[in-house]
Formats: sequence, structure tokens, C-alpha cells
Amino acid sequence: MAHNLLKGKRGIITGALDENSIAWKVALRAHEEGATFVLTNAPIAMRMGEINKLAAQTNSKIIPADATSVEDIEKLYTEAMAHLGGKIDFVLHSIGMSVNIRKNIPYPELNYDYFNKGVDVSAFSFHKLLAVAYKLDALNEHASVVALSYIAAQRAYPFYTDMADIKAMLESIARTFGYHYGKHKKVRVNTISQSPTRTTAGSGIKGFSDFYDFAEKQSPLGNASAEDCANYTISLFSDFTRMVTMQNLYHDGGYSSTGVSQEQLDAMK
Ligand SMILES: NC(=O)c1ccc[n+]([C@@H]2O[C@H](COP(=O)([O-])OP(=O)(O)OC[C@H]3O[C@@H](n4cnc5c(N)ncnc54)[C@H](O)[C@@H]3O)[C@@H](O)[C@H]2O)c1
Repeated sequence: MAHNLLKGKRGIITGALDENSIAWKVALRAHEEGATFVLTNAPIAMRMGEINKLAAQTNSKIIPADATSVEDIEKLYTEAMAHLGGKIDFVLHSIGMSVNIRKNIPYPELNYDYFNKGVDVSAFSFHKLLAVAYKLDALNEHASVVALSYIAAQRAYPFYTDMADIKAMLESIARTFGYHYGKHKKVRVNTISQSPTRTTAGSGIKGFSDFYDFAEKQSPLGNASAEDCANYTISLFSDFTRMVTMQNLYHDGGYSSTGVSQEQLDAMK
């Protein structure tokens, strides 16, 4: 159900690869809530062509940008503001990639070139999105910037390898840039720590199905879906949360506060 929560707001949505992507669901909901926005992804991801369907459905322009390139990001903001007719009110960072995970390399044996690549794509890109906006003065006051994280930033998960460290950095960037941008222009910056979700990035992790089922049993409300994550993200883009900033917000059906569920104990009998 739509409530016009984002009526008149302009945004940039990264990371919609296919219809399973969390960013894809956010774009659909943002459109329903009255926002106008541009979609962006790495030029290589465009080759699949899926994003064109989303652009048509949401009446939005696609501006390719590699999130590791400051030059591409400058072009992204400049073209987005020209196309949308003003400064930006919300930005979604929905970008994650680890070659170490893709290649199933265990944590004690991490390849540092791959690690560097993962940091660049999945964490520095968040700093760059914020730093370029800051430099170009591309965001309106009280604009909301959200990135997606995972609880491996706080707790050890063997399968999440270097992405655990990378997500810890992502969450730290939200806090530290949130301070600077909050002081500067009242811009707020948060991360959402999302349940395991069946997407291309998620399913690329070894044993994803097992820990998806584990989290489902562990969480009193069950795993939060991509659609639920989109709704939560919309609330953070809306004016109802205009004083929320520098937070890592768990969106996980209660998983992060549960020691052990009765279902897990029963399963061990
Ligand atoms: N799926 C999960 O279980 C889960 C859980 C918690 C957090 N997250 C996070 O949610 C975010 C979105 O992932 P998703 O699960 O929707 O998967 P996804 O694979 O659909 O999205 C990842 C996106 O990152 C983009 N990307 C990769 N390299 C890029 C680059 N250089 N420049 C620009 N874009 C680039 C990809 O093209 C893709 O669109 C990620 O940050 C991920 O870590 C996912």
C-alpha cells in the first residue's frame, strides 16, 4: 500500500542487478511512494540488460557508474541532478562483492589483492559516494543515505571471510561520515543490517542455504525478506526518521538479540 512517503523526493539507487536484488525492491517501493530517481550499476552489470526492465517500470533513467571510480561518481551526481531537476534527497548504497568469497578462500588464507578489491568495491565506494556528494554539494538538507550491511561486522561467521571486516568498515564510514555530513548539512547516514536474503550476492556465499535456515529458526519473527528491507529503507528515506543518523540498524526479525531459540535446541535433540 502506498502512502506518498517520498512524494517530491529525488534519489539515486545503486545495485539493482536483477529482480532478486534488494535494490530492485527498494526502487519499486520508492516509485510507489512517489519518488523520482536514477538507477545506477557497474557498466559490466548492465550487460545482462535486466535493469532496463526496472527502468521502464519505474520511469527512471539509468546512469552507469563503477562505484570504485570517483570520476564515474562525479558524472553520476551531475547527470542525476540535471535529469531530476535539483539536489538529491536519498541515496541507496547496495553494493557488495568479495572475490575471496566467490573463490571459497578460507579466512586464514585470504588473498590480499582480492581483499583490496573487496574493500574498494564494497566499502570505499560508500565513502566515495558520500565524499563526492559533499564536494559537489549534491544533497539537500536532511537527505538520507543508506547502505546495507550484515551482522558478521559484529560477530564471527566462518563463511563470511573478508566481507566481515569490510562490513565493519562500511558501518564505521556511516558513523564517521554521518558526523561530518550531519554537522555540515544535516545529512543523515545509516546502515541497515539485513537478514540473509536470497540474491545473487547472498547466494554466492558457501553454505548460504544452511545459514539462511539457521537464521530463520533463530529469529523470533523469521528472516526479514528483501521486500521488508525495502519498506524499512523507504522509512529511512522518509521525513519520519529525520533525526536518525550514524546508526547501524538491525533488520533481522530479532536475530541479533536472540541467544538461542527453542527451535535450535529442539533440532539438536
Ligand atoms: N543477500 C544477503 O543475504 C545480504 C544480507 C545483508 C546485506 N546484504 C548486502 O546488500 C547489498 C546488496 O546485495 P544483494 O544481496 O541485493 O545482491 P546483488 O548481487 O543483487 O547486488 C549487489 C550489487 O553490487 C553491484 N556491484 C558490484 N560491483 C560494483 C561496482 N564496482 N560498481 C557498482 N556496483 C557494483 C552488482 O552489480 C550488484 O547489482 C550488498 O551490500 C550486500 O552485502 C546482502
